[in-house]
Amino acid sequence: MIRKCLFPAAGYGTRFLPATKAMPKEMLPIVNKPLIQYAVEEARDAGLQHMAIVTGRGKRALEDHFDVSFELEHQIRGTDKERFLEGTRELIDNCTFSYTRQVEMKGLGHAILSGRSLIGDEPFAVVLADDLCLNLEGDGVLAQMLKLYEQFRCSIVAIQEVPREQTQKYGVIAGELIREGIYRVNSMVEKPRPEDAPSNLAIIGRYILTPDIFDLIADTEPGKGGEIQITDALMKQAQNGCVLAYKFEGQRFDCGGAEGYIEATNFCFEHLHKNTF
Ligand code: G1P
Repeated sequence: MIRKCLFPAAGYGTRFLPATKAMPKEMLPIVNKPLIQYAVEEARDAGLQHMAIVTGRGKRALEDHFDVSFELEHQIRGTDKERFLEGTRELIDNCTFSYTRQVEMKGLGHAILSGRSLIGDEPFAVVLADDLCLNLEGDGVLAQMLKLYEQFRCSIVAIQEVPREQTQKYGVIAGELIREGIYRVNSMVEKPRPEDAPSNLAIIGRYILTPDIFDLIADTEPGKGGEIQITDALMKQAQNGCVLAYKFEGQRFDCGGAEGYIEATNFCFEHLHKNTF
C-alpha cells in the first residue's frame, strides 16, 4: 500500500519573479488557497496520510502553513472567517508533515533523492504542486494512478497530449498501448526538440515510484540542463522492468507560468470557490 507523498518544493520559481523573491512559489494562491494545499489535498483524497516536503532556503512559509496558528485562530473564533481555515486545519489534524532541505538545486531527480530519508524503502507518490490537476467528474489524478498501481505494482507517470511544438517543456514518452490510456514505456526523453521527440505524450507532475528508483537516481549522471533528471532514472527502470504512462482523466494547469496560473484561477473561481465568498 502507498502511504507517502513527496512534494519537491525547493525550486526558485524564477518564472514568477518578483512575486517569488521572498515567498515560495508553492504558496502562490489560486483564488484563496495556496498551490501546495491543492497538492496536499489531492494526496489526502487519494488516501495518503504522510506528506514529505523537500524544501530549500526561503521556504519556511510552507512549514508554517501546515501548522496551527494559535493567535490567528483565537482571533477569528466565532466569526464567519473561521470556515476559511477549516480545510487547512483538517489536513493538519489528519496528516503528518515532514520536511527536508535540498541543499543544492541539481534537478528534479536530485530533489526526489533528497527526500529518500523521509520515504524509506516503500513505494510512494510524487506531486509537483505547480502542475495543478483537477477532475470535477470523479477521482483526482493521484487516486486514479493509485488504483492502477494496485494492479500493476510498478512506477507510473501521468501523461497528457501536448502540441508538438511544446515538447521542449516536458519529459516525453513513447510506448506500447496496453489498454485504453495506458502505455508501457519504452522510450523517455527530457525536454526534446519537436523533431527529436518520440511522441507528443508529455509527462506532467504526478508520479508513482517504486523505491528502487533511489539507487537508479544515485547512479544517474547529470542530463538535460546539467541536472539530474528523474526522466533518465525512469528510463533505466523501464529498461530493467516496467514503467507505465497513464493518460489521466481531468484537467491540468501549468501554474508555474502566468498564463496557466490565470486560467487555473478563473477555472477554480468558477467551479470551486464562487459560493465561498
Ligand atoms: C519536470 C520534469 C519533466 C516534466 C515536468 C512536468 O520539469 O523534469 O519531465 O514533464 O516537470 O511539469 P520542470 O517543469 O520542473 O522543468
